[in-house]
Amino acid sequence: MGASVRESLRVLALESSCDETSASVVSGTPQAPQLESLVILSQDVHRIFGGVVPEIASREHLTAVVPVTQQALTDAGRTWDDIDAIAVTHAPGLVGALLVGVSYAKALAAMLDKPLLGIHHMEGHLFATALEHPEAEPPFTALLISGGHTMLLDVPAWGSYRLLGATRDDAAGEAFDKTAKLLGLPYPGGKHIERLAAEGDPTRFKLPRPMLHGGQRVGDPDYYDVSFSGLKTAVLLAVRASDDLTRDTPHIARGFQDALIDTLVAKTIRAAKAHGRTRIVLGGGVACNKTLVAAMTTAAAAFRGTVYAPTPRLATDNAAMIGAAALYRYGICQRDGAELNAHSGLPLPGLLVDAPTTA
Ligand code: KG4
Ligand code: ZN
Repeated sequence: MGASVRESLRVLALESSCDETSASVVSGTPQAPQLESLVILSQDVHRIFGGVVPEIASREHLTAVVPVTQQALTDAGRTWDDIDAIAVTHAPGLVGALLVGVSYAKALAAMLDKPLLGIHHMEGHLFATALEHPEAEPPFTALLISGGHTMLLDVPAWGSYRLLGATRDDAAGEAFDKTAKLLGLPYPGGKHIERLAAEGDPTRFKLPRPMLHGGQRVGDPDYYDVSFSGLKTAVLLAVRASDDLTRDTPHIARGFQDALIDTLVAKTIRAAKAHGRTRIVLGGGVACNKTLVAAMTTAAAAFRGTVYAPTPRLATDNAAMIGAAALYRYGICQRDGAELNAHSGLPLPGLLVDAPTTA
């Protein structure tokens, strides 16, 4: 475990990296976080455009950030006097969107004379599951699968992360969303694909399992990495070849989802076995996919492993996960000042550089 907090803390956390304006009050310690309130305002406007429009996202955050924060405080039954620190996502994400949260958090911290902490969005996703499952603590293997990122990590302790693998091209959520678009389904498409795939015949479209073959060995560059652009092309070819897309859509959705899940499960199980981990923690919006969670759980059970997945509200972008990560970061004395800035891309803090491939 990393350093522990000596006393209980209460954090007001903000998240505005993409198209959710969210605020949350989280208290306790990193080992026992308490979710006091969580408000998430999703920006539905982007559905019209089939994807997130950065400029619109920033403006929507500007309108929402103050009332959403106030509501989180009210829902927790707290006043500003009860808050010990302000935490905010400062990277990675859409810079204009992040800036809204960062600027407001800085203003709050200065006005209230409270400590300020900038939190990495993906570290937030790592902490989300522990809010509901205190047993989902290191050491574990983590698979973070969102609309913008796909990361396979070994987590020996909070704050120490070995990046084992990542996507070479599309993130897992992006692959779901692009496949949905090809099939004429609404944005974001993950849940629509999952629903349709349940009705699909798994034998109709056998799509490639990218970067997954038996000859791979620990140390090979593609042993843990994934790639979904070829799978997307396979979907496109299947769509073009279909003479009845209405009939074939559930079958293509099934073929796509099976290929993606097989790949992610195989790579995650490889990582867990190589590092001797029996806990697997999932995070990010794609962790809402019940079929994926079930497949991972079955595969992990074969070596007495346990899979922890957050409920959808904590899997998709939310400020509670930022608050949970902040409890840990506060405990190891992170403090940020007026120089805190928004960054579109920033490596996860605590990345171990000498990544051994086996325990
Ligand atoms: O973590 P998240 O809310 O936002 C980012 O940080 O990107 O993830 C959003 C992604 C979208 O791509 C969405 O299609 C996907 O999560 N998603 C799903 C499901 N629900 C949401 N993907 C597959 N199956 C689902 N049930
Ligand atoms: Zn996210």
